[in-house]
Amino acid sequence: MSGALPRSDRAWTVGTAPGIFPFPFVGHGITLFRRPLEFLKSLPVHGDLVEIRLGPQRAWLACHPELVHRILMDTRTFDKGGPQYERLRPLMGNGLVTCGHAQHRRQRRLIQPTFRPSRIADYAQVMGEEAQAVFREWRPGTEVDVSAAMLALTTRVTSRALLSDSLDAATVAEVRDCLAALVRGLFIRTVVPLAPLFRVPTPANRRYRRAFARFHAIIDAVVDERRRGVPRDDLLGSLLEAQEAHDGAAGVTGQEIHDQLITLLLTGVESTAMCLGSVFSLLPAHPEVERRLHAEADAVLADGRRPGPEELSRLVYTRSVVTETLRVYPPGWLFTRTTTRETEIGGFRLPRGATVLYSPYLLHHDPASFPDPDRFLPDRWLPGNATAVANGALLPFAAGSRKCIGDTFAMAEATLAVTVIARRWRLRPLPGHVEQPRPAATLGPRSLKMICELRRPVPAQEPSAQGARDPDTGDACPVHRSPAP
Ligand code: HEM
Repeated sequence: MSGALPRSDRAWTVGTAPGIFPFPFVGHGITLFRRPLEFLKSLPVHGDLVEIRLGPQRAWLACHPELVHRILMDTRTFDKGGPQYERLRPLMGNGLVTCGHAQHRRQRRLIQPTFRPSRIADYAQVMGEEAQAVFREWRPGTEVDVSAAMLALTTRVTSRALLSDSLDAATVAEVRDCLAALVRGLFIRTVVPLAPLFRVPTPANRRYRRAFARFHAIIDAVVDERRRGVPRDDLLGSLLEAQEAHDGAAGVTGQEIHDQLITLLLTGVESTAMCLGSVFSLLPAHPEVERRLHAEADAVLADGRRPGPEELSRLVYTRSVVTETLRVYPPGWLFTRTTTRETEIGGFRLPRGATVLYSPYLLHHDPASFPDPDRFLPDRWLPGNATAVANGALLPFAAGSRKCIGDTFAMAEATLAVTVIARRWRLRPLPGHVEQPRPAATLGPRSLKMICELRRPVPAQEPSAQGARDPDTGDACPVHRSPAP
């Protein structure tokens, strides 16, 4: 998923998206805001590289996996930038997500130990524990706010992993609410990059500013309290230690500690919550997938024990369900970059400072990479079937040196949460309520409400990865192969 693709000798095509809004300062911003997914899917017919307008700005979207990999592998030329990262910087400062190429290697080395495999094994305990806490208040037959529950879960898991127990329950809830408001506001600021619009004191702009100020104040208070208290072995502890080691001069500053915490909480909480919400929104329409997921949960958690690292490795089908969910609804669905020099891509010359985009959603829905791309088929990812990665089109966590640092953490968290919940509960849609995943800064269901039904775990044999069945019909499932790159 993260390696460079061999270069093909394909003759690249370059086009322009039709339907620019009549007002020149809007461009495709309104279309991208109102029906972004349809708009993205319509672009590849216009070329491998397609010009769109973000407000008055020209921007180029790479529609072919090979061009996307060129962008992701050459981070010196295609650096973090463009409207998305310009909007994120006031919020996240200069942390690992937003920093430029020049600071990236040092920052990545600083944060990496928090996400090394042995740490993920420790976090697995916390993940299982918090997943059980999610349904403590659920009562059979009642309505539950699944989106809010998943956001609460990932806020607790991420804050415990990064900050130990520095946030009490009330503050965790506040962080969760701040994040929800910030993510809503970030998207409109990205696709319609007109700063004066967002200075108007509308209720939405005021909500965004309030959440922004409160989130920063919470982080400052956590850092201050830790400086006065006992050292802990967590991300905040290692950042404070790194600051002391250099006395702030050559290495980590107080500002960087603040920026890294904001960055990791914001990215870690939101994307994983979206992924979990999407899993539960997809299951009712795919009863065979749900049955097999329940069977695996019953087999792996047979004696009702809380899952840890060992169980994680046995949750093969559940992991395929999570991967297929990330393909169908990638929480990170659209990203921008900026060119740091004049360059060429797809045979087209781009000036220095050009905005370039890539969209995991667009790549994941291309039938050339994923046959029947709109169907939810977790079997694609079972061992022996997982060949669709061959052309590098599966990019939920990106690729290259800017690949998600939390990919293993997120996969473990989502897999454990799905299995713990699925062992006890079946979630049913509310009659007459259809929740479509909504794209904002991330993609996923934002107000998913469902009815929870208590399940009686069925003692069963662990389902085999072999003999895959079609999730809708129950028929033997074909092996999905993607064309050679
Ligand atoms: C399902 C969950 C997640 C998804 C789909 C996801 C997706 C992504 C993607 C696509 C990128 C690259 C962005 C770009 O190319 O501009 C990224 C970067 C990043 N993610 Fe995640 N992420 C997830 C969970 C997490 C978690 C749990 C954390 C940490 C707690 C995290 C921290 C980061 C950081 C720090 C970066 C920047 C890495 C760098 O530039 O070196 N993410 N993520």
